[in-house]
Amino acid sequence: MSQFPTIRHRRLRYNPVIRDMVRETELIKNDLIYPLFVVPGSNVKKEVKSMPGVYQLSIDKLVEECKEVKDLGIPAIILFGIPEHKDEKGSEAYDPNGIIQKALRALKADLKDLVLITDVCMCEYTSHGHCGLLAGEEILNDETVSLLAKEAVSHAEAGADMIAPSDMMDGRIAAIRKALDYKGFTKIPIMSYAAKYASGFYGPFRDAAESTPAFGDRRSHQMDIGNINEALREVEEDIKEGADIVMVKPAGAYLDVIREVKQRFAMPTAAYQVSGEYAMIKAAGANGWIDEERVMLEAATAIKRAGADMFLTYFAKDIARWIDKNRK
Ligand code: PBG
Repeated sequence: MSQFPTIRHRRLRYNPVIRDMVRETELIKNDLIYPLFVVPGSNVKKEVKSMPGVYQLSIDKLVEECKEVKDLGIPAIILFGIPEHKDEKGSEAYDPNGIIQKALRALKADLKDLVLITDVCMCEYTSHGHCGLLAGEEILNDETVSLLAKEAVSHAEAGADMIAPSDMMDGRIAAIRKALDYKGFTKIPIMSYAAKYASGFYGPFRDAAESTPAFGDRRSHQMDIGNINEALREVEEDIKEGADIVMVKPAGAYLDVIREVKQRFAMPTAAYQVSGEYAMIKAAGANGWIDEERVMLEAATAIKRAGADMFLTYFAKDIARWIDKNRK
């Protein structure tokens, strides 16, 4: 027996070319979905304070931005709308002339094959900032589901290529599928925010979407942070109801959930690297406390390694640019 180890894991680590050859997880542009926020007006490009590099955009600026996104090779965006008027019933969510519907028509006119996904929820459109219709302080499930189905259909009519319900009401996938099919949108897929946790990581998003609840929080419908069995039941139910892609959200603190969902259901699986995950990396990077680019790539690689087939990230453009610069 030699005094030296036969197995030397380091053999494959010395030469950077060999290191690249044995790398198991690589980021590619087809992984990326870029979230964008659209606001009324024209010539508006307003940076979100807690999310440097992320902007609220008016439709004209959104179209410009999407051309850049497409030129970078990013296949899809997800759109969030900040309406002109908010009311108790979130009427602009399903108004054919609402902000999202107008944005979709403008994007479809100018950009042929960028995939347009829309977030379907009420919280950006209600005056109280909650995800549905209220009775007192309670969010009504079934009444809200009917409105979500209406919202989804109006997005499809305006040109959405995929619908992404993020509200966490029970039974909404089935209702949305039925409503889309009834109107002839049988080919429009649903990407369900299936396992969505009541997370503190959404803080900066609520600045961006101006959707902070006027009272209380979202714990009566979003999932408790300690639960994984429940996440699997949520995902299973959404698949039965007709979800085509299932999502776990947030991503970084829920890698175990991503892994389990992918292994158990073998479905196309998405993860959302949310606003707080982005803001933390940006803030620490700006302070020189971490190497922003390196940590960005590490966090993204981890999400993919855990099992996500695609992920929503505010870093999509930065990752695409990195791929352009670093891959032959
Ligand atoms: C709800 C919605 C939220 C996010 C995406 N869709 C906010 C919430 O549930 O409170 C959060 C995304 C992020 O933090 O980046 N419409």
